[in-house]
Amino acid sequence: MPNITNAKCVLVLGATSGIGRALALAIHDLESHPTVIVAGRRQERLNELCSQGKRIKSVQIDSTSGRESLRQFAAKMVSEYPELDTVIFSAGIQHTFNFNEPEKIDLDKLEAELGTNYISIVTLITFLTPHFLKLSVSPIPSLPQDFSNNPWNTYHYRNRRKGFRPLLFPSHLD
Ligand SMILES: NC(=O)c1ccc[n+]([C@@H]2O[C@H](COP(=O)([O-])OP(=O)(O)OC[C@H]3O[C@@H](n4cnc5c(N)ncnc54)[C@H](OP(=O)(O)O)[C@@H]3O)[C@@H](O)[C@H]2O)c1
Repeated sequence: MPNITNAKCVLVLGATSGIGRALALAIHDLESHPTVIVAGRRQERLNELCSQGKRIKSVQIDSTSGRESLRQFAAKMVSEYPELDTVIFSAGIQHTFNFNEPEKIDLDKLEAELGTNYISIVTLITFLTPHFLKLSVSPIPSLPQDFSNNPWNTYHYRNRRKGFRPLLFPSHLD
């Protein structure tokens, strides 16, 4: 099973800034010389990342573009990168919602946040898992949010029972 130090091909979602960008560049610099596929919406930032190394590839994706779009994205990834063995989910947004003033809650924003931070991750996991099962490796899920209270706990425990070894970022890098 791969861990990050021997992963061959790593897809980093949310690589155009913050944690994802730092992880993508740090992983690119590993001695194992993995291919790093950086993903996000902002093409100019993806281009800038690609200019930092030949093993950095890019793909534009909007996590909230819908189930069919994510299905096609997952298919494209495993077709273009059959050696893909690691996925880091770092795309995320975080708004503040004050439920003491419910009339001010922007439900469109709330839906976008849930879609980006949760639904798209579970959807992509669903579409990518057959590839990882074929490879007999476990993908590396990353949780940008506190995951004590979300579906990922279930995902992890189920995988543990099956003998998979899901890992978490960024704490796994410590
Ligand atoms: N930084 C912290 O200390 C911290 C602590 C706890 C949790 N978090 C959470 O961890 C996540 C990442 O944090 P960060 O600080 O790295 O944030 P960031 O610098 O704002 O980066 C967010 C990344 O997510 C991508 N993204 C956002 N919406 C997207 C969408 N619809 N489709 C595809 N990509 C999308 C952005 O790329 P594009 O805009 O190019 O699409 C960007 O690369 C966030 O959810 C944040 O709330 C951060």
